[in-house]
Amino acid sequence: MSTPVTIQFRSTEAEAAAGFAGKVVIIAGANGAIGPVSRKINRLTKGALERFLSSPAFEKMKPGDAAELAWPAGIAAEAVQILRLDRQADALTARKAGAAVGKALGASGALVLAEGHPKAAEIAYGLALRAYDFTAYRTGEVTSPGEVTFLVANPEAVAAQATAHAAVTEGVFFTRDLTNEPANILTPVDFAARLAAMQELGLDVEILEPEELKKLGMNTLLGVAQGSANPPRVVVMQWNGGAKGDAPLALIGKGVTFDTGGISIKPAAGMEDMTGDMGGAGVVSGVMRALALRKAKANVVGIVGLVENMPDGNAQRPGDVVKSMKGDTIEVINTDAEGRLVLADVLWYVQERFKPVGMVDLATLTGAMVVALGHENTGVFSNDDTFCNAFLKAAKAEGEGAWRMPLGEAYDALLKSRIADMKNVTGREGGAITAACFLQRFVKPGTPWIHLDIAGTASLKSDSTFAPKGATGWGVRTLDRLVQDLCEG
Ligand code: BES
Ligand code: MN
Ligand code: ZN
Repeated sequence: MSTPVTIQFRSTEAEAAAGFAGKVVIIAGANGAIGPVSRKINRLTKGALERFLSSPAFEKMKPGDAAELAWPAGIAAEAVQILRLDRQADALTARKAGAAVGKALGASGALVLAEGHPKAAEIAYGLALRAYDFTAYRTGEVTSPGEVTFLVANPEAVAAQATAHAAVTEGVFFTRDLTNEPANILTPVDFAARLAAMQELGLDVEILEPEELKKLGMNTLLGVAQGSANPPRVVVMQWNGGAKGDAPLALIGKGVTFDTGGISIKPAAGMEDMTGDMGGAGVVSGVMRALALRKAKANVVGIVGLVENMPDGNAQRPGDVVKSMKGDTIEVINTDAEGRLVLADVLWYVQERFKPVGMVDLATLTGAMVVALGHENTGVFSNDDTFCNAFLKAAKAEGEGAWRMPLGEAYDALLKSRIADMKNVTGREGGAITAACFLQRFVKPGTPWIHLDIAGTASLKSDSTFAPKGATGWGVRTLDRLVQDLCEG
């Protein structure tokens, strides 16, 4: 998997800065204030820093922005990068500044003159999150970023703060790698094997194969899978770091490794994006990895439904009626509304087996969600205000966009079928909401539940603050924080 850049924290020695051949990063406050090591760099460059810091270019920079002076005279560095960041900056602004360093990080690495900045660990976090590149299939020359050293006043204290961040960064990278993988490589079987490998981290991982799924009655999940030569898997990952016997929090992910639409086939244009239709399962996997790496004091179960949705002689037909594990029958009007069929059985299974204190499902569920909220916010649906508000608070603290959407009986009524208990699609109007209502039919009354439709946020066509174009890992940081807030408090 893609490994995060190596970051070390050392105590400040000015000599190291003058001779460093990579990028030297300095931090300047709003009025252009810099620390003693940076002032030494200024002297060695014959005042180049000061000229920049008193220029209109610096004045125009917003908190968290970065600028670069290339090939400065007087020092060995290939560039000096200047971050505008007050000492009072909040964590998210500090991460944003760090991300600018991560984005521009070259093979020769960087030396960050943190100058006792109180948010040094957050700067490092943003740097690490942004220094990601999915290089698995680019043969030839791929330059990996060089090492990063932070010169800080108190290396042990900063390194301790950075340890938990490093665990989450690895989780985010795991999610991004899974989501970026092409579907000929990341089949349900391959996905399951990557999750089984996490047993090394102390997770308990079980893989349910088709025979078992049949016995359990997961017919709506199996119906989606039946048109594919790649057999489905359901994977259960348990992290039991909390009190023995405490019911777990459950995380459930849609893992459609490729979504052609099935017999209700999708148009060709953009269909390749459906390699990311396992993004929900990717986030669940990344969170479980982070929890294991940081040895979270919480009980959490992650479960993913892994299937491929293909058209084939054996594929499910529009009009088929299938019986869910719950026992409800579903008329499959459109085989492209497959995510809800996968999740219906997995949601039911996790409640029957674990009686979770709450559950959060994640799915690239509907194009309608992208129409509604674009790429800035994930749609949040919930049957429980307290649980939902805790989630929204965590999302806000992590700077991951999340916006609550409605549920309701009038929407739910649109799912009425002529011949079965429900149909799997309604009209186009409110499509993300009616999809959520469909899922809610598989949530037991009394189980606090959040559904996250990440169709617009799991992968992007352009760079974002913390990720290059492609998979973002949206939700890993928020869910890790939610586990901290709810289970480890
Ligand atoms: N995986 C898609 C949703 C999707 C669309 C995700 C765009 C990411 C980007 C889902 O399985 C799907 O095909 N949904 C249909 C539902 C419709 C048939 C009711 C859709 O949104 O068109
Ligand atoms: Mn689909
Ligand atoms: Zn899909």
